[in-house]
Amino acid sequence: MKKALPLVLALLVPMSAVTPGGVGAASTPAPAGTGGAVASGDPLATAAGLAILRGGGNAVDAAVATALALAVVYPEAGNLGGGGFALVRMGGELSALDFRETAPARARPDMYLDAQGKPVENASLVGPLAAGVPGSPAGLWELQRRFGRLPWPKVVEPARRLAADGFRVGRYLHDGLGREENRKLLLRFPESARVWLPNGEPPALGSVLRQPDLAATLGRYAEHGPQGVVTGAVAAAVEKASRAHGGVLTAADLAAYKPAWRQPLTAEAFGWKLASMPLPSSGGVILGQTLGMLEKLGWEKLPRFSADRDHLLAEVFRHAFADRFLLGDPATTKATEAQLLAPAWIARRAAEIDLRHATASAQVQSWPGATAAAAVSGSTETTHLSVVDRDGNLVALTTTLNGLFGCGLWVPGAGFFLNNEMDDFATAPGRPNLFGLIQGEANAVGPGKRMLSSMSPVIAWKGEEAYALGGRGGSRIPTHTIAVLLNLLVDHDPLQAALDRPRLHHQWLPDRLEAEPDALAPETGAELERRGHTLQVSTTTAKVHAVHRLPGGRVEAASDPRGSGSGGVVDPDP
Ligand code: GLY
Repeated sequence: MKKALPLVLALLVPMSAVTPGGVGAASTPAPAGTGGAVASGDPLATAAGLAILRGGGNAVDAAVATALALAVVYPEAGNLGGGGFALVRMGGELSALDFRETAPARARPDMYLDAQGKPVENASLVGPLAAGVPGSPAGLWELQRRFGRLPWPKVVEPARRLAADGFRVGRYLHDGLGREENRKLLLRFPESARVWLPNGEPPALGSVLRQPDLAATLGRYAEHGPQGVVTGAVAAAVEKASRAHGGVLTAADLAAYKPAWRQPLTAEAFGWKLASMPLPSSGGVILGQTLGMLEKLGWEKLPRFSADRDHLLAEVFRHAFADRFLLGDPATTKATEAQLLAPAWIARRAAEIDLRHATASAQVQSWPGATAAAAVSGSTETTHLSVVDRDGNLVALTTTLNGLFGCGLWVPGAGFFLNNEMDDFATAPGRPNLFGLIQGEANAVGPGKRMLSSMSPVIAWKGEEAYALGGRGGSRIPTHTIAVLLNLLVDHDPLQAALDRPRLHHQWLPDRLEAEPDALAPETGAELERRGHTLQVSTTTAKVHAVHRLPGGRVEAASDPRGSGSGGVVDPDP
C-alpha cells in the first residue's frame, strides 16, 4: 500500500477544487418525434442510421448501418476489425448477440510474458500480436440477417458511400489523430501513417478523406456478406499484415469466427424491467448486482446528491467489481451469472456494506494482491449506439477496437484497423489491463476464448415506455451507464439531463472513488473522505448515448455532451 501512495497522490485533485453542484452543465435536448431515433458517437453515423429508418428500415437495419458508418468516420473505435455486443428488443422479444473477438488459434496463456515470466511491455496493446479475431463482419451481418427488414446491400451502402466519396475531417477526429499517444502508435506502422498521418500530420481539418480500400471491402461485404471480408483477398491482406508485424492472426482464424446468440440477463429494479448482456460481458452482472444491492439497501429513499447516497453507490460498485475478478469466457468462468445474481448472493454482498464507512477493497475479496494499487489509464475507448424505431423496437449496440485505433495497424488492401482486444484478457497474473482492471484466472488467454468485457448495452422498459443505452469508456462503461439509468428510472430526469449530470466511478481496484468535476459538493466530498473514501476528481469518463420511447409512442435521442456524438429523430415534432 505504501509503495502505491505517490501514484495515488499524484492523481488526486484536492476537494477544494471541486465546485458545488451535483447537476452539471445542461445541454439543449434534441426535439422528440415519431419516426424513430438514433444516438451514436458521430453525427454522420447517426445520420446514416436515420436515413435507413426513413427508407423503411427497422431498428436493427438502422443500428447496423450506424455501426458500419462508424467504421468509416470514427476509425478510433468504429470497426470491421473489432467486435462487440448487441442487445435487441424486437416485437417485445429480447435477444443478445455476442460478436466479441476470440483469441486466435495460436494464442497461448504466456504469449505476453518473457522467458522469466514477466509481462513484455505493450505486447498485448501494440501491433497485431495484440489482435483478437474480429467479430464485427460476421456479427453485424448475423444481426441484420435475423432481424433486419431491408436487403443487406442497402444497409451497407451508406457506409460504403462515406468511404468511397469521403467525408470532411472534423475537429474530433483531427485532434484525436494529432494527440501524441495516438500519433506515436500510428507512426509505428507505415500503412497507418500513410492514411491517417500523411506527411506526419492528421488530414487537414475540413479536408475530404476518402478510404478506397475500405470502400472496396464494404463493396465486397455488401455483395457477399461476411465471406467478402473473412475469406479471399481481404482475409489474405489481414494475415499478411499480421505476419509482417509479428502477429499470429491468420485468414483461417477469420474464416472460423462465429458470433453467438446468447440469453440476455434480465432483472427488475425500481419498478422497471431490465435486459443486459451476459458473459463474456461483465456489464450485465455488474448492473444486476448494483441495482439489486441498491434496491435492497433503500438507496432511492436517500436524499439525492447526499453523501449517504454517494457512499452507498461507491460501496456497491466496489463489491460488484470485486466479483468481476471471477468472470471470464462463459466456458471457463469461475462464477456464473446465476451464482452472482442469485438473490441470496446479492443479499449477502449488500449485508457486507457498512453504511457509514468505506470498506477497504482489500477486505472485499481475498485475492492476495488486492492491496496493490493499479494505474488506470485515461483511456475511454469503444463506441456505443442506441436506436428505437417507429414500432418501438430497440437496439443497444456497443462495439470496440479496445484501445483508440486498436493495435495501431491499418491493414492495407483491407482498409481497417485491427483491434488490440487481447489486452482485455488477464495477460499476466496481477497485471492491470489498459483500464486498470485486475482480472482473474477465469479470464486467462486461451485459443478460441472470448476476453472479458465491460461493454454494457442495456434496455429498460415499463409498460409502453422504454430506454436503450450504453457507453464507451472501458471500466467506466458499467458505472456510468448505471448512473444514467438511476437518473432516469429513480430520479425521473429528462433524457438529456440524465446524460449531462456528473458521475461517480469505483472499480474495486485501485481503491479510490472517481468523481467528475461538479459531481460532489465540497461538503459531500469532505464527508465521503471522512468515511474513508480516497477521492479523485477525474475528467476521464464514459460517454453514454441513449434513446427513449415515451408512453404513447413518441421517441427521443440524446448523446453524451462529453463526446462528439449526436442524437436525432425521424419526423421531429414541429
Ligand atoms: N475493450 C473494452 C471492453 O470490452 O471492455
